[in-house]
Amino acid sequence: MSRVAYVKGQYVPLSHAAVSMMDRGYLFADGVYEVVALYRGALLDEAGHLDRLERSLAELSIPMPMTRRALELAIRELMRQHPQQKNGLIYMQVTRGEGVRNHLYAPNMKPLLAMALLAAKYPTAAEREKGGKVITAPDMRWARCDIKSTALLPNILTRNHGATLGAKEVWQLNREGQVTEGSYSNAYIVDARGVVRTHPKSHAILGGITRDTVLRLAREAGIKVVEEPFTVAEIAKASEAFMSSASSFVFPITQLDAVTLPVGPITRKLMGLYDAYIESLIHA
Ligand code: PDD
Repeated sequence: MSRVAYVKGQYVPLSHAAVSMMDRGYLFADGVYEVVALYRGALLDEAGHLDRLERSLAELSIPMPMTRRALELAIRELMRQHPQQKNGLIYMQVTRGEGVRNHLYAPNMKPLLAMALLAAKYPTAAEREKGGKVITAPDMRWARCDIKSTALLPNILTRNHGATLGAKEVWQLNREGQVTEGSYSNAYIVDARGVVRTHPKSHAILGGITRDTVLRLAREAGIKVVEEPFTVAEIAKASEAFMSSASSFVFPITQLDAVTLPVGPITRKLMGLYDAYIESLIHA
């Protein structure tokens, strides 16, 4: 079955989906994106992702390309066009639109929405049991990482550097030697007392929607969460570590630079809580 994309108001075969070279997304990465997991037929935290899309656009003074309700309906139509596909990622991208090549943008530009249901690879039980390797590297990104911009070149370079060293993810370090986040996920350690540490929401990280859910579930379960940056030196003393994202869920880290870690009790608890939360969405 051929895949269908939604571009400029039309459903077209993904292989033919195209936008103009003069689109500012192509010329300047002048746009934002969102990724919503479709898992066993359920959209995970759709409302949170659409809230963040609206926020990213507002920060860049790009108007929503359509009403929120129309966007929700377009997502459902995309799912309806792929009846066999129960697992995937709804990828949506909104750019400032098409115009002349000038850093200055014209007032009242027409934003362009492109959307597709892409393939996803969710972690298996065996992969979670094994956990992943993370290395640290300098954070090369800009000063507004809270905006989910399509300008991902630093993330791409960082992630590919990690991959050459066998790492699943790279945790990025600011000038103070603190971990901000991964190149495509949020970063957490657990200390010897079972306290979860993660960088607070700020301009330095993307406020993950999975992060919001994981921290809420942790607090509801009585697990202590401290939203404060942690350093490389603190990594060395961590008793557990994990990452989260729309497509990784909660994923254990079993090697952090030179430190080997178990898939520990707090990580297991949070994986279980997140899985149960997903299950509740599937059966809602
Ligand atoms: N990545 N931090 C960064 C830099 C990210 O790119 C992502 C998401 C996250 C986690 O956010 P969320 O829990 O909302 O997925 C954190 C997506 C999946 C991507 O780029 O494909």
